[in-house]
Amino acid sequence: MNGFNDTPKQMHYLSGFCNEFATEALPGALPVGQNSPQRAPYGLYAEQISGTAFTAPRSHNRRSWLYRIRPAAVHQPFKQVEGPRIVSDFTATPPTPPNQLRWDPLPMPDASTDFIDGWVTMAGNGSPEAMTGCGIHLYAANQSMQDRYFYNADGELLIVPQQGRLQIATELGLIEVEPQEIAVIPRGVRFQVKLPDGQARGYICENFGALFRLPDLGVIGSNGLANPRDFLTPVAAFEDVEGDFELLAKFNGRLWSASINHSPLDVVAWHGNYAPYKYDLRRFNTIGSISYDHPDPSIFLVLQAPSAVPGVDTIDFVIFPPRWLAAENTFRPPWFHRNFASEFMGLIHGEYDAKAEGFVPGGASLHNCMSGHGPDADTFEKASQSDTSKPGKVDHTMAFMFETPAVIKPTQFALETSQLQNEYYQCWQNLKKNFNPEKK
Ligand SMILES: [Fe+2]
Repeated sequence: MNGFNDTPKQMHYLSGFCNEFATEALPGALPVGQNSPQRAPYGLYAEQISGTAFTAPRSHNRRSWLYRIRPAAVHQPFKQVEGPRIVSDFTATPPTPPNQLRWDPLPMPDASTDFIDGWVTMAGNGSPEAMTGCGIHLYAANQSMQDRYFYNADGELLIVPQQGRLQIATELGLIEVEPQEIAVIPRGVRFQVKLPDGQARGYICENFGALFRLPDLGVIGSNGLANPRDFLTPVAAFEDVEGDFELLAKFNGRLWSASINHSPLDVVAWHGNYAPYKYDLRRFNTIGSISYDHPDPSIFLVLQAPSAVPGVDTIDFVIFPPRWLAAENTFRPPWFHRNFASEFMGLIHGEYDAKAEGFVPGGASLHNCMSGHGPDADTFEKASQSDTSKPGKVDHTMAFMFETPAVIKPTQFALETSQLQNEYYQCWQNLKKNFNPEKK
């Protein structure tokens, strides 16, 4: 029997995103040959959870069949509760300045704070109602979730740990992630987060729109970037526990609470393709120039949430992992730029190669549409003088970006917190005039 304490460590490969997985914590718990037999094995209830429209094309259609001790419907009515510091209405945020913004890391809480209480929304766009856009949150927690469970009906959660491991017990099994790994919890899937290291901090992208998927590779070919075989989805595990528990739901932008007299993590077997998954960012196959210049940062794309417009994603999840820089006679750090896209960055580990200081692990920056940014003065000077006849290595680093075509609106918290670096703009003020019309 697979309880959460004795779950086998092996996981299934999520090869592609339309594969079918089948996993059972008790032998024979999965019905054979049909989804909802008149009586499911072991007295279990059969229940489907769908993550896409029923009629979505097969290649994008996502659903799973769960065989569980009690159906998900068994709980008391929900009542609205005050969300800790979670924002989903980005029409009510203060006017978004075009300034470059950067923040120090969120401090660890003093009071006892679990994964849900530790959320604070930094920015976002779109809305759960519009089913497009994202909420960008930070979390800082010092306590495991106890006697309560959570699900998010507003979108899937891309969780990026920066400090401390997370044990995420979900309806479909256990996901364990550490910094430099990510977890994606699908819309609606119930879970509970435990902190094996006592403390945890990181970033969350709440995707209101189409589900994250692996990008097409075009002329790159059939391998490269994030390889499908490195995405792992859990084996079935369940707990058969009764007691006085709370089921928290984020639904249509608000937080709701219901009493539930049993653990909702009671799925004994499941099959399908709608499941949580994890990925180790250190396995990313990084591709770059081996002649001159460097490609657009889309070359670092891990996952994309597509929009209805071909080639335009609602959200791109991009990483900047350790890599060799080989381009000759080239300014090797990220260049100066203004983009159509808006960019929320975080640093998981080490240093980021475009900034000499001020951007530390756990911190964040926001460069919105057409706001000029790029390397600071120190980085520019160093990179302009460096020897590019030999390769150099950017090492001991892992930065990431949530990039969206819509403006990313910082919340009131983000604009007023003492973590906001009011002097950030100064890092470009020492970029002196080098222009001399007499000297080419
Ligand atoms: Fe940028």
